[in-house]
Amino acid sequence: MSSSSFPAWLAAQAAQREERGLTRRLAESDRGEPLLDLAGNDYLGLARDPCVVAGAVAAAHAYGAGASASRLVSGTLSIHTELEQTMAAFTGFASALVFSSGYHANLSVVQALADRDTLVVSDAHIHASMIDACRLARATVTVTPHNDVAAVEEALARRAQRRALVLVETIYSVLGDAAPVATLAALAAKHDAVLIADEAHGLGVVGPGGRGLLAAHGLTGRPEVVGTGTLSKSFGSQGGLVLGAPAVREHLVNRARPFIYDTGLAPAAAGGALAALRVVQAAPELPDRVRAKAAALAGACGLDDPPAGAVLSVPMPGPREALAAVATAAGHGLRIGCFRPPSTPDGISRLRLTAHAHHTSEELALAVKVLRLIMPGTCG
Ligand SMILES: Cc1ncc(COP(=O)(O)O)c(C=O)c1O
Repeated sequence: MSSSSFPAWLAAQAAQREERGLTRRLAESDRGEPLLDLAGNDYLGLARDPCVVAGAVAAAHAYGAGASASRLVSGTLSIHTELEQTMAAFTGFASALVFSSGYHANLSVVQALADRDTLVVSDAHIHASMIDACRLARATVTVTPHNDVAAVEEALARRAQRRALVLVETIYSVLGDAAPVATLAALAAKHDAVLIADEAHGLGVVGPGGRGLLAAHGLTGRPEVVGTGTLSKSFGSQGGLVLGAPAVREHLVNRARPFIYDTGLAPAAAGGALAALRVVQAAPELPDRVRAKAAALAGACGLDDPPAGAVLSVPMPGPREALAAVATAAGHGLRIGCFRPPSTPDGISRLRLTAHAHHTSEELALAVKVLRLIMPGTCG
């Protein structure tokens, strides 16, 4: 086998990953000893809620297992329209468009709203889907330091391009902190730019009744603000959404390639998300509950401040230490997440823990006990 052959190249890549402690392995979470989950994003426990599962099953029976075609061909179903109208009304935006995933929603909104005469100003800690969206957009991209409002303003003010987009997450998926959305929206208005804020970790967790950080700041009616989201986290289902003015929705339907050339959202996912939304509307205390649990976990991890949402981020000395902490936690019955380069733009490996509204006080107490044992710098 020559050293330049395809198998040799794969083997060399694998060896390199292994040496750096960066090999990723898939593990079936429904097998083996059940672990208390502090790694997943089902913040409100709705993925297994009987009403949500029943909503998914009913939609599959009514509409079939798949949407069968792109939304523009024959894949738009009345359940898509109902989901879009309900999501828009819930979040306070004038309209919504649903996608087969949050990843596609982000790819779509940036690709369709940018052109060669656009500057895209992207926070350094933006999700991979937004990074890939920038590549797809063929626009000029400036990456600004995390939550650095002055750097965003400078980039907008000095731009040569006619148009500009500012990309942020409302609650950052790995760092767990919040973006200064009110200031950024004001900057967008001042500099004739559009703020695109990903609410993947905000919806269901922050804002009034879980309506998100944009709603909390009264930004959902502003023409220069566009939201994106996912149905796969707080809503316990699958799929993505873009929230904005009807003209934004209409533009995406006509120009967003990841929307146009993709089969419509599966009916079961739409039905599950709709049912989840009804659960959230009927139980507006759920977001408060998840944030209270996040604050308790933060104390156990020795973090000074409670997180802005449900995500806790604990920096670790390196990827091996992070993996060792994950293994120790698993040995004590706890599943925690870990992010290592290249998923962390600053090269810092981190433990990522998520709070869940449905964890019982006994489960929370177990989690706190185990975290006190394994956290660097905290005593047992
Ligand atoms: C911030 C952020 N945006 C977008 C996505 C993509 O969402 P989905 O899983 O629905 O594709 C994720 C999921 O990991 C995320 O964390």
